[in-house]
Order: sequence, then structure tokens, then C-alpha cells
Amino acid sequence: MEVIIRPDADQAAALTARLIAQEVRLRPNAVLGLATGRTMERVYNHLVRLHQTEGLSFRECRTFNLDEYIGLPPEHSGSFAYYMRRHFFSRVDLRPENAHLPNGLAADLPAECARYEALIRQSGGVDLQLLGIGPDGHIGFNEPLSALRSRTREKALTSSTRQANADAFGGDFQQVPCRAITMGVGTILEAKRCILLATGERKAAIVAQAVEGPITAMVSASALQLHPRCVVIVDEAAAAGLDGADYYRWLFEHEPEWEAFR
Ligand code: F6R
Repeated sequence: MEVIIRPDADQAAALTARLIAQEVRLRPNAVLGLATGRTMERVYNHLVRLHQTEGLSFRECRTFNLDEYIGLPPEHSGSFAYYMRRHFFSRVDLRPENAHLPNGLAADLPAECARYEALIRQSGGVDLQLLGIGPDGHIGFNEPLSALRSRTREKALTSSTRQANADAFGGDFQQVPCRAITMGVGTILEAKRCILLATGERKAAIVAQAVEGPITAMVSASALQLHPRCVVIVDEAAAAGLDGADYYRWLFEHEPEWEAFR
């Protein structure tokens, strides 16, 4: 795992977008694993800007979102399908048929989860997985005690997650669905590369647990310590609890790998 600390949320998001752009330029038909949430809005804005100003093309890419609420139609403004159309899909040249989310309206949810896993496999697996982190340490909607080998499945959401996501439901957490389909921790760990982005002081404590604490199913993001190619990008506020912050800063300034991104 590598940790990169950027001065503020916008620079952290810009670096994340540049790493995604690097992947897409290297591999125009890349399979991208995508996330939603407030943190990612800046990343999508940067990617759209790169599309508009530098001709970054997603025409041959395929995308798989981490999760979707159960019971919401894709037209519902709280659904992740709606979020993705609004923030990314409608603003770039990705082909609609190549953009995948779990179907939270499927009549047979276990079959839908199996179909989603199979589709990811048939696409050759995720090349680059974008991740946020929830206040309870979730990645995707893998709430505490999710098995570290879990696969795409239904998951009940904690009340802290429902509260954190209430904005998209008029601020009323009771309106946030109780269940979602999410890629599992095991599914996420199979991505060839992972980038976790966390910004703001609200995330500082959980980032420290995930990055420097023990690997535990209580903090799903800590499983990323097992991943051979995982970068955690944080702003200074989210880095506040990291014991090794000085070392991480030094590495970013000196490792040749990051020269083009400094
Ligand atoms: C969303 C997702 C979640 C979010 C996390 C952080 O698709 O998978 O894990 O990334 O809840 O959300 P924000 O950025 O709103 O704090």
C-alpha cells in the first residue's frame, strides 16, 4: 500500500483523476471499477475536464460500479444509477451499454449478484478500482464484519451509513434504503489496481485505522493492506491521524514513479 498526501481535497481528487486518465490512455479498453459519494464528485469533474480539454476518451472503456440500493428505480434521484448519469456518464463518451451497475430492482437478487460477478469476470476483471471509504470503514457497501473474502451480495446498511447518505434523500435518513447490492471485499481485492480516495477531517480517524491499524473485518478498507497495488490518496485533513505521514510525504516527493504527478 502507498499513501499520497495532497494539500487539499481538490488536489487529491485531481491526482486521482490523473491516475485514472493514465490507465485509460495506456489501455483504452480498460475496465474501470467506479464509486459514488460526495468525495467522488470532484474526481468525475476532473475526468470530464480532461475529456473536454485533452480529448481523454472513454469510448472503449467498460465500467462496473461498486454498489446500488435495493428497491430504487434508476430514475430515482437517490439511486447510484442516477448519480453516475448526472456526474459522469452523460458528460463523457462512454457507451451506455458498457456502463454497468448492479440492478437493485432484480426479482431474484442472488441471481443478479451472480450475474454481476460473471459479467466482471467475462470482461477480464477490473483493471483499476476507484474506492471511497465510509465513516464505518466500508468500501463499497461492505459494512463492518463483511467477510474479507465476500463476493457481490445483498448487504444491510448500518444506520451510520444511512445517515451519511441522507443528503441524496432530502436529508431524511429514514428514506435511505436499508439494503444494497455491493461487490464483496474479495471481489474488490481481485482488481488489478485500487485507488482509495478520502478527504476531510471527518475521515481522518477511519483512514488511520484502515491504513495503519490491524487488518480486520470490522474495518473493510483495512483489507486493502493485502492488495499488491493499492494507493490511498488523502488530503491533509484526512491524513491528520496517520503516524507515518512524514514518510509518506517523503516517498511521494522522491520516488521516480510519482515524478510526473508531483
Ligand atoms: C459508494 C461507495 C461508498 C462511498 C463511501 C464514501 O459507491 O461505494 O463506499 O465511497 O460511503 O462516501 P462519501 O464520499 O459520500 O463520504
